[in-house]
Amino acid sequence: MEPFQRHRRLRKTAAMRSLVRENIVTTDDLIYPIFVVHGNKQKNEVPSMPGVFHLSIDMLEAEVRELEQLDIKSVILFGLPAEKDYISSEAYAADGIVQQAIRRIKDLAPDMLVVTDVCLCQYNPLGHCGLVEDGYVTNDNSLELIAKVAVSHAEAGADIVAPSDMMDGRVYAIRNALDDNGFVDVPIMSYAVKYASAYYGPFRDAADSKPQFGDRKTYQMDPANVREAIREAQTDIEEGADFLMVKPALAYMDVIKELKQSFDLPVAAYNVSGEYSMIKAAAQNGWIDEQAVVMETMIGFKRSGADIILTYFAKDIAKWLKESK
Ligand code: PBG
Ligand code: ZN
Repeated sequence: MEPFQRHRRLRKTAAMRSLVRENIVTTDDLIYPIFVVHGNKQKNEVPSMPGVFHLSIDMLEAEVRELEQLDIKSVILFGLPAEKDYISSEAYAADGIVQQAIRRIKDLAPDMLVVTDVCLCQYNPLGHCGLVEDGYVTNDNSLELIAKVAVSHAEAGADIVAPSDMMDGRVYAIRNALDDNGFVDVPIMSYAVKYASAYYGPFRDAADSKPQFGDRKTYQMDPANVREAIREAQTDIEEGADFLMVKPALAYMDVIKELKQSFDLPVAAYNVSGEYSMIKAAAQNGWIDEQAVVMETMIGFKRSGADIILTYFAKDIAKWLKESK
């Protein structure tokens, strides 16, 4: 019996396969996360995230030059403050660690796109993303502070602000505050659909932002829900979001696809710390082929509809793409 359809015709050679390939990953798609810390000559590896470092401001020059070499055009900044307090002061301080890093990077490389994570959790001793009152993370009273963080980042020169706190109304609050301060052209990349996920574990070590009581389930989304994701995204669009993000990425590719099909904003996927550490650990044990698994994962994000990928693998990917040219 002869098959009626011969799909293998289009898989015969590398040239044939590349001719019919439906998706690609390029460095244009990638945003590389950087953790900045106070001090001098600090370059300390995060134990649970091999290859990811805490960098002091003076170490950013080498980092930025490396990223330029690799054609990586965007970074997202996370800061570790000198001190934490209950009003998260350093999050919106003009000379806060992130604000310093923004200025330094824009100084070194004006064309480098600097995105900033807008949140409070690293900056207060309770490790929650909003203000805590009577043991509960309050919504409305958190908004003013979160908007202040975004404005302080814009003042330092950030190209995009990315709120990750999941308070209701924060995109509207940030949009208003940015506009009032003359930053009408600074876009908001909303962590619109952010789940209460165990995959953030290594990040919370890296950023020292573990909640000191309870969990984040009263503000981050329930992993069981997808219709709610559409509602979250819809609200953020109405409030003025310019990009939608889904986080984490790997276990939520259906959500990425859903947002891509439902809305016309660019969709970003955050390939989070736990997703990174799992692959790194398996690769270090020799159990998987790191490059092949990472590239397969990335193409999966693109196929599911992600326009943009935030990933700790960005530098590795850029190197592999260069080598394969
Ligand atoms: C801060 C923030 C988190 C991440 C990005 N911004 C942690 C959290 O919400 O607990 C997670 C990033 C990662 O795991 O790589 N709100
Ligand atoms: Zn937070």
